[in-house]
Amino acid sequence: MSKKRLLSGVKPTGRPHVGNYLGAMRQFVELSKTHESFVFVADYHALNIIHDAAELAQLTNDVVLDYLAIGLDPEEVVLFKQSDLPIHTELCWIFNTLTTMPYLMRAHAYKDAEAKNKEINVGTFDYPMLMAADILLYSPDVVPVGADQKQHVEFARDTAEKFNRTYGDTFKLPEVFTPKEVAIVPGVDGQKMSKSYGNTIPLFAEDDEIRKRAMSIVTDSKGVEEPKDPEECNVFALHKHFSPNDIVNLEKRYRDGGIGYKESKDILADNIISFVTPMREKRKELEADKEIVQKTLAKGYEKAHAVASEKMQEIKKKIGVII
Ligand code: ADP
Ligand code: TRP
Repeated sequence: MSKKRLLSGVKPTGRPHVGNYLGAMRQFVELSKTHESFVFVADYHALNIIHDAAELAQLTNDVVLDYLAIGLDPEEVVLFKQSDLPIHTELCWIFNTLTTMPYLMRAHAYKDAEAKNKEINVGTFDYPMLMAADILLYSPDVVPVGADQKQHVEFARDTAEKFNRTYGDTFKLPEVFTPKEVAIVPGVDGQKMSKSYGNTIPLFAEDDEIRKRAMSIVTDSKGVEEPKDPEECNVFALHKHFSPNDIVNLEKRYRDGGIGYKESKDILADNIISFVTPMREKRKELEADKEIVQKTLAKGYEKAHAVASEKMQEIKKKIGVII
């Protein structure tokens, strides 16, 4: 039986954080051992946010290094950049002609922007259709993403169904993969960790920065001896991810009283540091190789293009633009 296929991507909009890693990137690495994997940098999605050329170029370069540093093997995994394949934006256009405005208005990202009275650009409004194109061109079985991206994968499924109904069976419906325990990793303020909330613990930060971020986790003001409900504590929420060996003991000490937030944060910082150090060191080695990013993307492009262009021929025949 042939291997199942995975596809996912991250947009280069800032430093990746441990929420991105646990919620999405780690799944890319784990599943790439058993799946034929396509993992890309969503630079055209980032263009909705970043309008400085040097910054976008740097952030894109960084995501490729991040992918390699977390252990994606470019010999096995197709690592590519969205903008290298204009087929993605071309298919997005085709989907635009099938999708209605009220449907796109249901997107959480759009509704949030509206609720905040933000001016929303057309690219942001259309974001889910570009994402549907990213996904459906590669016929993946599974799309690993964090909880906030689940709706977008559902939009891709709906779009596939709509196309199939209109033009005949063309697209496979992908499954979203979001392990429950890591669906929403909280940030230092207890909200979802997000680049846009300034509440992150960056994945490749140096020890000092990690320690500082851990110390900034928001807690109540209970004293050391007071019993504490671990489920109410933002520090404990992160221990669940980084302190598997200490968790039983920590929970007991929380409930009994006898552990202060300072000590709990120190333990957490130590554990996060041990967790991220190997990846951070690997990233430094990779950074020294000035050609590695271009080489990786060139190789990924070839393989991605072979798959995407074959699919696009089929699509073009179906819609009647090949005459
Ligand atoms: P951010 O919200 O920080 O801008 P992105 O939108 O770049 O993050 O997300 C990249 C991937 O990481 C997506 O699959 C997203 O669902 C996942 N992700 C982001 N934040 C979290 C989090 N706090 N918990 C779990 N997964 C997350
Ligand atoms: N929207 C995703 C994010 O913000 C990035 C992304 C773009 C993506 N296209 C995709 C993820 C296709 C999975 C599949 O993180």
